Amino acid sequence: MFIESPRYTERFGSVRMNHVQTVVSLDSGAKSDLPPPGAMGVIKIAEETIKDFENKMAIVIPVKDEKLKLFEGVVSGVPHDCLVIVVSNSQREKVDRFRMEGDALKQLCHFTFRQALIAHQKDPAIAEAAMEAGYDSLLGEDGLVRDGKSEGMVIGLLMAKVADKEYVGFVDADNYFPGAVLEYVRNFAAGFSLAQSPYSMVRILWHYKPKISGGLYFRKWGRTSEITNKHLNDLISSKTGFETEVVRTGNAGEHAMSMNLAEILPYASGYAVEPQELVSIFESFGGILPTKEPKVMGQGIDIFQIETRNPHLHEEKGEEHVRNMLLCSLSTIYHSPLSSEEIKQAIVTELVRQQSLKEGEEPPPVHMICSPKKVDSKKLISKLREDLDKYRVLP
Ligand code: GDP
Ligand code: CO
Repeated sequence: MFIESPRYTERFGSVRMNHVQTVVSLDSGAKSDLPPPGAMGVIKIAEETIKDFENKMAIVIPVKDEKLKLFEGVVSGVPHDCLVIVVSNSQREKVDRFRMEGDALKQLCHFTFRQALIAHQKDPAIAEAAMEAGYDSLLGEDGLVRDGKSEGMVIGLLMAKVADKEYVGFVDADNYFPGAVLEYVRNFAAGFSLAQSPYSMVRILWHYKPKISGGLYFRKWGRTSEITNKHLNDLISSKTGFETEVVRTGNAGEHAMSMNLAEILPYASGYAVEPQELVSIFESFGGILPTKEPKVMGQGIDIFQIETRNPHLHEEKGEEHVRNMLLCSLSTIYHSPLSSEEIKQAIVTELVRQQSLKEGEEPPPVHMICSPKKVDSKKLISKLREDLDKYRVLP
């Protein structure tokens, strides 16, 4: 594929945050006698390079009661060499939706000769492994893994580790276009191929997000992401003294990390997870607060934001969902030790204006799941590995 070279990189402490890079063309052909890297601001990412990274990558699909057709489409869009890991929190009573997901996945894998893993978030064996490893922040009062998208993501990334993958990407199960999923993963690979540090992250920005209202309208910005990005940028500006618009992917559900980075980050519960990743990176490596990982500080963190060619269309889950999502997103910034009084005040004003908070209320605290590195992950991994056969869709 052809992709814009990063036009500008903002540096905060040891974080290198690249401005958005657009995919110029989805394919760059087999011939290698094409422009030298960086000519005219465009980089060619060779097909072998993409395949090489796909082979080292697991794609985690968190799913909760999505339409089966959408889920199937998403799986069919993941490049063949990636390991698919489905973590489901779908219902099991009455209609066993988890079973239906498993059957659909199995059929796809059977016909295409690929392996995949599928686990239920409430599997007691996973909770037990987490408990033994001291992973209390992942568990609820009932002793099982808590509800929530990020809880599913954390299980997925642990399984990716069990499967010895070096990269882990996340793709939502409610995407309408399998072709877009294919592009997301290729963009992950492209980003990783440009990283200098073993600690890297790629976040997807979609070109357009169509809305159906009368006719089809290709919106450039979702409302939640626009607001989240603004406040993340303000947080950065308040520390550097220079206004910035570098953050454009605060709510990117589609994103990927090197395992090295994924295992040292804490995760915010539920829908706060994506913006919290950035907040946590700024806190730990932005050079303002003391770091607990001096080794990582030395190598730096590379963050890429890649704008797709494909439009993004996913299930619309209603106004209430959007309000809740915004509340979760801005709470991560509000409760950061980096946040000043001014930043906090602006967030409260915004949340009241968007009817996510009532006058006089404060954003609720964010439940944090500690980083996998903080618990006895060796024990956790070996326990999950013992059970691995149970999670494979094909014998
Ligand atoms: P949005 O796209 O950010 O508005 O959020 P969605 O509601 O579409 O959720 C993103 C993805 O997470 C979808 O694939 C959901 O099915 C999935 N998801 C939501 N809640 C949970 C959960 O509790 N556990 C798991 N494993 N996945 C979830
Ligand atoms: Co969605």
